[in-house]
Amino acid sequence: MERFVIRGGNKLNGKITISGAKNAALPIIAASVFAGEPCRIENVPEISDVRMMAKILRFIGAEVTMPEPGVMVVDSKNIQPDITIPDEMTRKLRASYYLLGVLLSKYGCASVALPGGCYFGVRPIDQHIKAFEALGASVNTDNAVVDVKCDELYGSSIYLDVVSVGATINAMLAAVKAKGLTVIENAAREPHIVDLANFLNSMGADVRGAGTEVIKIRGVSEMHGCTYSIIPDQIEAGTYMVAAAATGGDVVIDNVIPKHLESISNKLEDCGVTVIEGDESVRIISEGGRPRACRVKTSPHPGFPTDMQPQFATLLTICDGNSTVVEDVWDNRFKYIDQLRRMGASIIVNGDTALITGVESLHAAPVEADDLRAGAAMVIAGLIAKGETSIGNIKLIDRGYENIVEKLTAVGADISRVTFDED
Ligand code: UD1
Repeated sequence: MERFVIRGGNKLNGKITISGAKNAALPIIAASVFAGEPCRIENVPEISDVRMMAKILRFIGAEVTMPEPGVMVVDSKNIQPDITIPDEMTRKLRASYYLLGVLLSKYGCASVALPGGCYFGVRPIDQHIKAFEALGASVNTDNAVVDVKCDELYGSSIYLDVVSVGATINAMLAAVKAKGLTVIENAAREPHIVDLANFLNSMGADVRGAGTEVIKIRGVSEMHGCTYSIIPDQIEAGTYMVAAAATGGDVVIDNVIPKHLESISNKLEDCGVTVIEGDESVRIISEGGRPRACRVKTSPHPGFPTDMQPQFATLLTICDGNSTVVEDVWDNRFKYIDQLRRMGASIIVNGDTALITGVESLHAAPVEADDLRAGAAMVIAGLIAKGETSIGNIKLIDRGYENIVEKLTAVGADISRVTFDED
């Protein structure tokens, strides 16, 4: 069993280079199946979620190789769309459900066990189903497997009742080869949705408007392989920005798109942290005393990302004054707060709001990663805390952070991955 052991208190100084975006890589790798011939995907993060998506693609017949670091080649000429993707694969990777949209659009059928992923409340897929049905598919969810099929898909108007990243992506994927025009309204606008649209268009699709609330897709009959480079990971970058701020450091976060980080940068500035934007970098300077308390509310892009909520709340535990964090996307994303309390944080949760009273510092404790971003929050807490913090369940952190130990060590953190006996 592996744990992270962190001796906190070091200020972070230096440069961290950000990897490709997990939440762009997963739908893009799934969508490479449209090509029916090799696709070369660059800037792929080497994380366990990506390895799981590659494993699922191999399971349905694709040839997936990594000829060099950060490069994945998917050859999908021998896909068998009628195989059910089983629960032991999908429960580890929520993004496995993107294969529903891809296989339905390309082959007219798909069968995927209901997806798992991080638990932060009920995670329905009703909007995905609504989109498939609007395009003419029939959907059956008996026996915890989602079966979709169609004779032919026809472009249609799809209004999403909630702004959903996953449903927007699945609707786009399903519409790519549907006959005629599909209009998705109330679409999510996250950077990875734009990245997926660019990738689809590089393969010959006709997707317009990604990044706005209305996405228009004209179905095409033929698609082809391409070479494509994935955008940098907004949430990985945000996590290290917050880690730099929380440790009183001075860190350049490199290989980023600063525009994608604006909501995080703005909140750091509210806390009195200096953020200097470069062309492809942001520098975080947080010297001279505790940052100030502030108010944070999560919302879909371009709002403050829910995937940064646990990390930012961890910074607020040591800010000067009273902060509030409102979680407006998920109904149960405060579970990790119990772990922060073990480290001396003062937090009261009231419904969708966490009230945080800043303390001088946190103290070390053994804690667990409850999910991917909650795990990242524990790492930040460990970097702040006096003493030796050990974090368990780190396979959840490995799902989304490439070389986290190496990246943090290079900027002065004292963190190691330690193997313990099971008992
Ligand atoms: C994606 C991200 C996840 C992030 C989330 C919000 C991936 C692999 N995961 O998750 O890290 O936390 O976006 O930015 O990209 N909803 C419905 N019906 C649906 C679908 C969603 O009601 O059919 C609701 C959800 O309960 C939630 C909200 O919509 O309240 C947002 O969910 P969604 O954007 O779909 O999240 P995911 O795509 O699952």
